[in-house]
Amino acid sequence: MKTKPRATPRATPRADAQFDLVVRNAALPDGRVGMDIAVRAGRIAAVAAHGELAGAGGAVEIDAQGQLVSPPFVDAHFHMDATLSYGLPRVNQSGTLLEGIALWGELKPLLTEEAIVERALAYCDWAVGKGLLAIRSHVDVGDPRLIAVDALLHVRERVKPYLDLQLVAFPQDGVLRAPGALDTLQRALDKGVEVVGGIPHFERTMAEGAESVRILCEIAAARGLRVDMHCDETDDPMSRHIETLALHAQRLGLRGRVNGSHLTSMHSMDNYYVSKLIPLIAEAGVSATANPLINITIQGRHDTYPKRRGMTRVPELMAAGIDVAFGHDCVMDPWYSLGSADMLEVAHMGLHVAQMTGQEAMRACFDAVTAVPARILGLEGYGLTPGCHADFVLLQARDPIEAIRLRAARLAVVRRGRVIARTAEATATLDLPGRPAATSFRR
Ligand code: FE2
Repeated sequence: MKTKPRATPRATPRADAQFDLVVRNAALPDGRVGMDIAVRAGRIAAVAAHGELAGAGGAVEIDAQGQLVSPPFVDAHFHMDATLSYGLPRVNQSGTLLEGIALWGELKPLLTEEAIVERALAYCDWAVGKGLLAIRSHVDVGDPRLIAVDALLHVRERVKPYLDLQLVAFPQDGVLRAPGALDTLQRALDKGVEVVGGIPHFERTMAEGAESVRILCEIAAARGLRVDMHCDETDDPMSRHIETLALHAQRLGLRGRVNGSHLTSMHSMDNYYVSKLIPLIAEAGVSATANPLINITIQGRHDTYPKRRGMTRVPELMAAGIDVAFGHDCVMDPWYSLGSADMLEVAHMGLHVAQMTGQEAMRACFDAVTAVPARILGLEGYGLTPGCHADFVLLQARDPIEAIRLRAARLAVVRRGRVIARTAEATATLDLPGRPAATSFRR
């Protein structure tokens, strides 16, 4: 396929402009094509079929050339206090979760607030370049100095004009198992961390894990906060803390405000038990976040062959009407040596691991890195309807499935109606013996 001219924002102000920005001839994730999006004062003012806004110009105009405009990518599960620390003080040799936790324990005393801020800001730059404009990050509250909390609270303010950073108080070493952890978690919440985290499968016993879930949900209910727990990140089919999380979410009236992250034990559970569990999660209004890049590399490490994939039962949870997001979890840290803030790479892996290859299933994988995590985070004004924040991404793809297939270039990233990042169109130019002329293509 011959390349089309690049969709370049025209920055020349128009004297007759009625809008701050107009994107013309866009495809939308819901399947509509040939749509124009008009922006005024940082909000979407109109979405109309191409031509209906013909007389109304924008101070800046973008010709989308029929390509996909999506709301920004959202990561429902990340660890920004650890990101970009790969190799400090050494690399994870076994690649297991437990060596990662041990390695993080070695690194923690060496951390400085300045270094965490520097690495987090660098990651946020990567994120913006990839159209990832909202991240829920866990922050370890196990260190009584709370320097990671202070660092990420500072970063949250610094990036606010261009990225929504939501923080989860995460007791990495167990809120009951680690001395003083409950106190430091509450101090982190007092400082302004807005979500309550937990790690029940890392507490000393199943009973203490269940008790930690109860305590943490009650703290969240008392403070009016959301809950997001690392829950059952294990191959043990008897790890059933998600059941307890659903129970307390329902008991405390936290419907729509509780997320279970990982839930990898569900991969290994008995099918009969799961047939009871999934409706229980749905009844309680609890959402789920799978982390396919991490789950596929960390789970199943005690298996010989066949090796379990270890990702939770994504299509089955979705079929029950449960919100399921795909998270990145880690980028270049004690647990994962790769990653680039590319949520299309995350969706691509999730699609493969979950074998979600049908058309509707592939579109659901795109939703799992956009609209669904936006609901989990409770983002205000997210979407492409009039009144929403004018935050969106122009992708070098015609629809969500093609975006995942190509891990499409983010031609333009828009925040509050302003283009804040651009990437050149990806093309390859061939010069083949026996062929008359050089050929360019991008698909
Ligand atoms: Fe995590």
